[in-house]
Amino acid sequence: MKTDVILGLQWGDEGKGKIVDVLAKDYGVVARFQGGPNAGHSLEFEDKKVVLHSIPSGIFRDNTINIIGNGVVLDPVIFYQECQALEKMDIPVKERLMISRKTHLILPTHKIIDRASEQSKGASKIGSTLKGIGPTYMDKTGRNGLRVGDILTKDFRQRFEALKEKHRIFLKQFDYVYDINESEREWLEATDYIKQFNIVDSEYVINNIMLKGNTGVLAEGAQGSLLDIDFGSYPFVTSSTTICAGACTGLGIAPTQIGNVYGIFKAYCTRVGSGPFPTELNDQTGEELRRIGHEFGATTGRSRRTGWLDLVALKYAVMINGVNRLIMMKADVLDTFDTIRVATSYICDGEATDRVPYDINARIEPVYREFRGWKRDLTGIRREDELPVEFMDYLRFIEKETGVPVAIISVGPDREQTIVR
Ligand code: GDP
Ligand code: IMO
Ligand code: MG
Repeated sequence: MKTDVILGLQWGDEGKGKIVDVLAKDYGVVARFQGGPNAGHSLEFEDKKVVLHSIPSGIFRDNTINIIGNGVVLDPVIFYQECQALEKMDIPVKERLMISRKTHLILPTHKIIDRASEQSKGASKIGSTLKGIGPTYMDKTGRNGLRVGDILTKDFRQRFEALKEKHRIFLKQFDYVYDINESEREWLEATDYIKQFNIVDSEYVINNIMLKGNTGVLAEGAQGSLLDIDFGSYPFVTSSTTICAGACTGLGIAPTQIGNVYGIFKAYCTRVGSGPFPTELNDQTGEELRRIGHEFGATTGRSRRTGWLDLVALKYAVMINGVNRLIMMKADVLDTFDTIRVATSYICDGEATDRVPYDINARIEPVYREFRGWKRDLTGIRREDELPVEFMDYLRFIEKETGVPVAIISVGPDREQTIVR
């Protein structure tokens, strides 16, 4: 059985956590393949609300094994706190979770470097979550990193000290005051805690499960395609491969073993952090989207920028991911709008285009198509044939433009508020 992939098609926060939790009941394995605690994946069910940062969103399903893949970067302290919270909810997290030996560790000094680097950029800062993501991936590709498997080695402490020393020297270039030993004890204790988990060669685990074929694997993406290190609005991106190909490298799955690619998008757009956002609304409508959609970050609490759906960007994301099933989230947030707009092309520095431009400083004016709002509460609807015609017009237009069917429509944050077509 092949591995299905679920990933964000916008700038993150599309609702991946909710949908992975919904779909997880049909998969024996849910595996995160990239990113780290910069992610905040929200789940709501049975009056519970949970935000996961490093743990895959299949953790609440009794018969699902969750894997933190080699492509992920793990902060032991945040991981420890997440596990404690789950254990309080009686989730047997140690039984349900495996961690790849090859997962890279976020050190306290990675977070310091993240902060120092952002501060040095001034007004052109990325708007990073400051979780140490960029510096940890830098050490990974620079071949200096520490991995989860290293925790089990005798000289782990020496290697930690050696990397810390490298960071101390690196930090000299910044005019930044810090305490090098910041939260070190907590971090070392948390690495010790990780030893209690099932630390595995997850590429073997996943490939063996696929080979046996009696249960499916679902790969859970973090962030979104427009934050991808290669295809996002560089440098205003994250430091990992957020697109489908990242599931191959982040889990050790061959491209030929990828099955369905589920692409998640909100019925409008949001972005948190800096960088271009062509359809951004800096007006009352944008404020309404933020208020109704509760658009405040699940990890940092920052207010999210809001705007209309951007089909130029969505089609780009569908293309680079090979999406064959779309999932539309937060349709209910548009319930009260008289008119809904969708960008179908751009005027880029005066020229019409239907492509995402290379130049992030290009002056983009979106060309919009308008749709009549449905002006009905979608949150209680559970069947497609009960959806208003105006909503279906909007949905069908997106399907026609992208050439991909919408398989799932989400009409509220709860697990139950989901229409599977
Ligand atoms: P993720 O990072 O992609 O998992 O998304 P986040 O959890 O950061 O943000 C999505 C937010 O929207 C969370 O607060 C969810 O509870 C909420 N949400 C998810 N689906 C829906 C939906 O269909 N309607 C509404 N109103 N909220 C939703
Ligand atoms: P989930 O998985 C939304 C953004 C940050 C910043 C940029 C780089 O919840 O969708 P980083 O901390 O990676 O150095 O930040 O990427 N960003 C996210 N935005 N959702 C996320 O994750 C994000 N993870 C990172 O705001 O602009
Ligand atoms: Mg999020």
